[in-house]
Amino acid sequence: MSYLSADGPGGIDARRARLKEDARIGLCAPVKSIPSAWFYDDRGSGLFDEITRLSEYYPTRTERAILECKAEDIVMVSGADTLVELGSGTSEKTRVLLDAMAAANVLERVVLFDIAEDVLRRAARDLHSLYDVEVEAVVGDLRADLDSLGGDGNRLWAFLGSTIGNFTREERGRMLVRFARAMSDGDSLLIGVDLIKDTARLIAAYDDSEGVTAEFNLNILNVLNKEMGGDFDVSKFSHRASWNESESRIEMRLRSLDAQVVSLPEVGLQVSLKGGEEILTEISTKFTADGFADELCDAGFDVAQRWFDEAHDFVVLLARPRGERHGTSGMRPADVPFAVH
Ligand code: SAH
Ligand code: TRP
Repeated sequence: MSYLSADGPGGIDARRARLKEDARIGLCAPVKSIPSAWFYDDRGSGLFDEITRLSEYYPTRTERAILECKAEDIVMVSGADTLVELGSGTSEKTRVLLDAMAAANVLERVVLFDIAEDVLRRAARDLHSLYDVEVEAVVGDLRADLDSLGGDGNRLWAFLGSTIGNFTREERGRMLVRFARAMSDGDSLLIGVDLIKDTARLIAAYDDSEGVTAEFNLNILNVLNKEMGGDFDVSKFSHRASWNESESRIEMRLRSLDAQVVSLPEVGLQVSLKGGEEILTEISTKFTADGFADELCDAGFDVAQRWFDEAHDFVVLLARPRGERHGTSGMRPADVPFAVH
């Protein structure tokens, strides 16, 4: 079993530098925001785990049901002997894929990639003790570091949980192009996304009756307090979840209950908030299956297959990078401009 930092020896420093930069840019902007990658410290990951078990939060159990039903096909179609999981978290659903690979006698290696180091280490240890395979854990940011995920073999890259929906159209385009570039010709990408549905159900999934999502959302302020020396008073904020129809996404915000000034000494910032002012902390885009297949296609993938649950709440797609992405046309995929829909 091995642990790597995608940032090299300066892993922790790189994390701090990135959080600092994200906080500075996000909290100085006219409309304040904090990127959702920073939800997941140890407590945040635990709260997310609780969210996945809430009755209102259907995506996890629906995606798991699709995987349970189709894992054998997925493993066969992909021809993979290595599983690379992006944004792996606790890697629970991953076990469904690993069981199928082990049953087919093809499982050789697992690579887990996540920004949340403690959870990543625990997941790697668990998988290592459950499956008799090499497990590599890589700490890094999906928005930047993927180069260290080299290695041979036929790799199945899994990006589950509709985490891709937590990024804007532009970020998604850039990220998918980077995935395609990091992949070899025999590799495939297995990606799960949440589909557009009744608004009340969508909102309930991000504003549950037990208040777990509220606690999860507020926890991002604890992360800033702990890692950037901040003095956010969590009791002076409230959780908001709303549906943005034109962007087809759930948006989560933290609303400042009063006018207040918060200091973040390690960022060198004093943040003034008006009473009622909101900080955007999360977007969760909801797709049509065709719309998302188009995004994959624009980023240089061919969609090989898609699997739905019976109610069409969620879709899992298997895609392969098109050969021409490494072409010598002079325009590397990352330079190709994206349409922003
Ligand atoms: N794949 C799991 C976990 C989803 S939660 C599931 O389907 O249930 C999202 C995970 O992605 C978290 O573990 C979080 O730490 C990770 N993540 C979010 N933003 C990230 C980023 N920018 N870079 C790397 N990992 C990220
Ligand atoms: N990828 C998950 C989603 O968009 C992440 C998530 C679920 C989430 N619930 C959340 C993120 C609540 C922030 C807050 O569904």
